[in-house]
Amino acid sequence: MDLKSLIRDIPDFPKPGIMFRDITTLLRNPQGLSYTIDSLAEKCSEMSPDYIVGMESRGFIFGTPLAYKMGVGFVPVRKPGKLPGAVYFAEYELEYGVDRLEMHQDAMTPGSRVLIVDDLIATGGTAAATVELLEQAGCELVGFAFAIELLALGGRHKLPDVPIVTLVEY
Ligand code: PRP
Ligand code: ADE
Ligand code: MG
Repeated sequence: MDLKSLIRDIPDFPKPGIMFRDITTLLRNPQGLSYTIDSLAEKCSEMSPDYIVGMESRGFIFGTPLAYKMGVGFVPVRKPGKLPGAVYFAEYELEYGVDRLEMHQDAMTPGSRVLIVDDLIATGGTAAATVELLEQAGCELVGFAFAIELLALGGRHKLPDVPIVTLVEY
């Protein structure tokens, strides 16, 4: 299936010079949605994760159905101040300033095998911060899955040497 044809390109969003790869047009297409989740599940099956960790917000959209399909649990990584229990946190760079991501400290037992899932990798900052959270939790990172990779930004070079699954590259 030609997934790229289901992803809408919107120039100059959220700011001039950015070509935004809009997944809402993929998500609303039933065949596109099921093909995306099924393809990620097939390509990740040999990683044998115990958990999928997905980052707010778009990582939830792909991470939860992928966890369901693979028969594993889903753990959310959230933006600051949203999780009610004790959290680990990691900061990451934005174009202007820093933001942080948080994960419940008791979400997974140390040694759990974890697959990190997001819709898209750009600079890799979001995924790298999530790796730091897993290190604090003592979990074993077994791979990454992204529906979309923006190759020019080189995000994969910020990540540890584990398998990276992607479906569409720009
Ligand atoms: C987008 C996207 C990835 C991240 C990729 O999330 O969903 O999570 O950017 O960029 P990076 O590789 O440079 O970190 P965003 O922070 O815009 O928020 P959202 O998921 O809530 O829309
Ligand atoms: N997140 C970071 N860069 C993006 C882009 N170009 N399109 C969609 N989401 C993004
Ligand atoms: Mg995101």
